[in-house]
Amino acid sequence: MQGANRRYDLIPWAAQNAVHPVTRMEHGDGAYIFDSEGRKYLDFSAQLVNVNLGHGHAKVVRAIQEQAARLCYIGPHFTTEARDALGAKLAKIAPGDIATAFFTDSGSEANEIAMTIARLVTGRRKIMTRYRSYHGTTSGALSASGDPRRVAVGYEQPNVVRIFDPYCHRCSFKLSYPECGVHCAASVEEVIQREGPEQIAALLAEPMTAAAAGIDPPAEYFPMLRRICDRYGILLIADEVITGFGRTGKWFAMNHWDVVPDMITSAKGLTSGYVPMGVVLMRDHIARHFDDNWIPLGSTQTANPIACAAAVAALDAYEEDGLIENAAAMGVVLSDSLEELKRGHACISDVRSLGLLACVELVSDAETGEPLSAKFGHGDSIEWIKRRVLELGLEVRVSDHFILIGPPLCITAQEIAWAVTVLDEILTEVEGRLVQ
Ligand SMILES: Cc1ncc(COP(=O)(O)O)c(C=O)c1O
Repeated sequence: MQGANRRYDLIPWAAQNAVHPVTRMEHGDGAYIFDSEGRKYLDFSAQLVNVNLGHGHAKVVRAIQEQAARLCYIGPHFTTEARDALGAKLAKIAPGDIATAFFTDSGSEANEIAMTIARLVTGRRKIMTRYRSYHGTTSGALSASGDPRRVAVGYEQPNVVRIFDPYCHRCSFKLSYPECGVHCAASVEEVIQREGPEQIAALLAEPMTAAAAGIDPPAEYFPMLRRICDRYGILLIADEVITGFGRTGKWFAMNHWDVVPDMITSAKGLTSGYVPMGVVLMRDHIARHFDDNWIPLGSTQTANPIACAAAVAALDAYEEDGLIENAAAMGVVLSDSLEELKRGHACISDVRSLGLLACVELVSDAETGEPLSAKFGHGDSIEWIKRRVLELGLEVRVSDHFILIGPPLCITAQEIAWAVTVLDEILTEVEGRLVQ
């Protein structure tokens, strides 16, 4: 039976009538989910790019059950075996001297906390973020985001300074890489000078932008930002809510460029989405600030024992199952397959990827680069593609004129090939509708 009565709760990010009826999901197994009518879907987006282990991983399920039987909840002023093990494990896998965690309930909260910590440590108040970014749904995190959801909410908190993105495909400066000298990074210095360096606490950025356009930066970008931040005593916060925990073929995406940020925020893959949990990871110089200064932050569920146990098991599973290596290898397969798909479709203007995080950008006019949604009437094309992929047994994120792909890290080359065949069929149908 499909979810019939939508009276009792609201589906996020949707006009309720536009998403009716909502498919009711029953169970999951590895890279597959099954609905209540027995239909099978390949989960090519790991839901919200968070179920990195795939569905129903026995080790994590067992850890949750065992912890629930021992102690479901304890206040954050106590510790547990799972919490201690998680802290030690995170210190081991995090880059550079990042060795201290502050646990949160979500990625949004992790970004809120990281921004507040940056303000407390530096005594400055402004945060720099990018126009095409998504940092979360809570007031501060959404205000920091560039995503259209911020504009739709219609209220934003002050002290956010925005900079342009490393979006080579539609460069805000109308320049071309590499002749541009990575101007999107270099120009940040001028913004800092005009805003007053002594007022800027941190620069918050996703290593690879996810929801807001799937942008993978040039290799020089983050090393340049790191140098600029260091010059002005500005903290660099990497929002690895999506890219953390193996998604890009390394534990953290910042590892690709050997850049150690002052803080990393993450969530999603930390527990593979099995239990809500986020984290702020910080370098020693940030953590030491709170040795003698009070940290006025936390929530009832900070370091929930079940979440900690799930996270410890998930981190072990990434290693034991070789999933980060698989993400790196399958990332190449995915990237090659999408490039091949692009060659066959004029409606694809660009494909971008880092490991198993990929974006397919759709246009209605290859000459002008007009985004696909504009031609179909905003929203229509997107809802139509969303429905069509599900009909064909594929689950993938589609928003604006972007298809965001982020399968579980256990995905195989055969599954990628099948999913790309489905996208091929749908994009052929899209092109057929465009010429009518
Ligand atoms: C990069 C990024 N940051 C923050 C968030 C917010 O995380 P959460 O939905 O767990 O609050 C998301 C969610 O998609 C995200 O992709």
